[in-house]
Amino acid sequence: MCGIVGFTGAQSAAPILLEGLKKLEYRGYDSAGIAVMADRKIAVHKVTGRISNLCEKTGDGSKVPGTTGIGHTRWATHGAPTEENAHPHLSNDGKFAVVHNGIIENYMSLREELIRDGYHFESETDTEVIVHLIEMFYRGDVREALIKTTNRLRGSYALGVICSEEPGKIYAVREASPLILGIGLGENYFASDVTALVNHTRNVIYLEDGEFAELSEDAIRIFDCTGQVISRKATRILWDVQAAEKGGYEHFMLKEIMEQPGAVKATIAPRIKNGAIEFEEMGLSVAEIKNIRNIIITACGSAYYAGCAGKYAIERLSRIPVDVELASELRYSDPLIDEHTLLIVISQSGETADTIAAMKECKDRGAKALAIVNVVGSSVAKLADYTVYTWAGPEIAVATTKGYTTQVTVLYMLAVFLGDKLGLIGNRKTQMIHSLQSLPRQIQQAFDLNSSIPALAKKYHASKSLFFIGRNTDYAVALEGALKMKEISYLHAEAYAAGELKHGTIALIEEHQPVIALCCNPSIMEKTLSNIVEVKSRGAEVLALTFRNNHKILSVADDLLFVPDIDPLFSAVVEIVPLQLLAYYVAKENGCDIDKPKNLAKSVTVE
Ligand code: G6P
Repeated sequence: MCGIVGFTGAQSAAPILLEGLKKLEYRGYDSAGIAVMADRKIAVHKVTGRISNLCEKTGDGSKVPGTTGIGHTRWATHGAPTEENAHPHLSNDGKFAVVHNGIIENYMSLREELIRDGYHFESETDTEVIVHLIEMFYRGDVREALIKTTNRLRGSYALGVICSEEPGKIYAVREASPLILGIGLGENYFASDVTALVNHTRNVIYLEDGEFAELSEDAIRIFDCTGQVISRKATRILWDVQAAEKGGYEHFMLKEIMEQPGAVKATIAPRIKNGAIEFEEMGLSVAEIKNIRNIIITACGSAYYAGCAGKYAIERLSRIPVDVELASELRYSDPLIDEHTLLIVISQSGETADTIAAMKECKDRGAKALAIVNVVGSSVAKLADYTVYTWAGPEIAVATTKGYTTQVTVLYMLAVFLGDKLGLIGNRKTQMIHSLQSLPRQIQQAFDLNSSIPALAKKYHASKSLFFIGRNTDYAVALEGALKMKEISYLHAEAYAAGELKHGTIALIEEHQPVIALCCNPSIMEKTLSNIVEVKSRGAEVLALTFRNNHKILSVADDLLFVPDIDPLFSAVVEIVPLQLLAYYVAKENGCDIDKPKNLAKSVTVE
C-alpha cells in the first residue's frame, strides 16, 4: 500500500503535496518523492525514510518552484526502499512523471519488452514500466497514451501522471486501488484517500475502476477506459481528519481486520499461475526442496502462532517434519541444525531482535533461511536466502490481524507448493488452489455471519479469565485468539489443547467460567465435543466457534460464533477472524486503548 497525491492550481504545489503526503504516511513510510512542473520541465525530488526527510530536503517545499505536481509515499513491494525505487518515476525523455499505488502483475514481461525496444530502467519497481509505456504510446495526446497504456497493464493501480507538454494538468487513473478527486476553488487535487484532501476541500469525486480524470485548475473531466466522457456528481465529506485516516473506522485495528479479504487476496492472486502456485521471487529450486530433511519455523508473538497453524498443512502436504520454535528460545537452545534444515522465519516487521538473532544462529549452523515477511528490505528479508513477502500493506495497530492472516496464507501456499514440487499431491492440487482462492470471500462471510459479536462482548467483557480450547489447527488458532484477547482487552486468557484439559486445567473450571471452544475441524469435532461436555458439566459457560448448521455443537453450547464452510486444511485464516472481532469488541467494552495497548510495542527491536 502506498499513498499518492496530485495538485494543480495557482499556489506553489510542493508544500501542498508534502502536507498531503504527511496525511497519507500511515499508508506507507519507507521512502517518498514529489515531481513538480515549472517552465515546461519536470523536477523530481526523492528521499528514503519518512516525509520529514523530504520536507528537509526541499525546505518544506519552498525550494521547489511550480504550481502543478504529484507526490508519493511508498510501502515497498517490488524493490527495496531506496531512492532509485522511490516514486515518482520519469520517462526516458523526461516528459512524463508517474506515481503509482498498487501492483502491476505482468510487469516482468512488459519490462523485457520495453528493454528490447530500447527503454532504459532506473529502478527495480513494477511501476517504472508504466511511465515508459506512456512515453511509447504518446503521440501528442496524453489521454490516448493513458488508454493504450492501461490496456497493457494487469493488476491494481491508482496512478498520478504529469506531462511537461501539458502545463497545469494532472491525470489520475484508477483500477482496483482507491483514488479520490478533490474540487477546490481555482485549484484541484487527487489523493489515495480523503485524509489528504479535507484540509483543502470537502467536495470530492470518487473515481471508479477503469476510469481516469484530467484535472486543470478550473476543470475536472472524467473518462471511461475508452475515452468517453462521464458525468459524476460530487460528494460532500463529513468525516474529520482522524476518522478519515482510519477509513471511517473507530480504530486502525478494526480497519485492518476489515482489510483482510483484500490483503489475503493480494498475497494469493499474483502467485497462482497456470493452475499452480509459483513463488517467482523466492528462488527455491526443486533440487533444494528435495534436499530438505526437516523444517524449523521460528518467530515471536503472533508470527509464532502463524507458524503453529502452518505446521499442520506443511507436514500434511510435504511430509517433511516441522518444528515450530519461539525465536527467543531457539537462539539459546544449541539447535540441531545442518545443511538439510530449512529454517522458515516469520516476521511482520522484519526487525524483531529475537527473530533476527535466532536466524543468525541457525544460519551459522548451516541452515538455509526462508523469510516470510511484510516489510520489504527489512533486516530479516536482507538476511534470508529466500524471501516471500506477505504484501499485507502497513499495519498500524499494535495487535496484528492482517499481518497474521497473510503469514498463515503464505504458509498454506508454501505447503501446496512443496507438496506439488515433491510430487505428493497429484490431482488434489486443483481443489487446494480453489480452496486458497476462496479464502478472501470466506473471510468476508465470517464478518457477515457474526453480527452478534458486539452483544457477546457485552456478556463476556467482565470475565476474570477466558479459556480457549481446541485440537489440532483449532488449537493453533486458539493460541492466537487468546493472545489477541490478552493484548488488547487485558483479560486473562489462555489457550489449551482440548485433550489436555483433563491433565490439570479442568481443575480451574467452576460455575460460569467462560470457555471459548473452537470446533472447525470435522474430523476431530466429536472429540472436542466431549471436552465441551466435560467443562459444561462442571458449570462452564461455553461460547463455541463452529460451522453454520453444526447441530451437535448448537445443542450444547451457550453461545455461538460461526465460520462458513471452509477447507479444514486451510481453516486458520478464516477461523481467527471472529476471535479478532471478539477481542476487539471486548476491549472496546473495557474502554481500552485498542490501537496502542499498554506495555506493548509494534516492533520489538530489543531482546
Ligand atoms: C510484537 C507485536 C506482535 C508481533 C510480534 C512479532 O510483540 O506486538 O503483534 O506478533 O512482535 O513481530 P514481527 O514484526 O516479528 O512479526
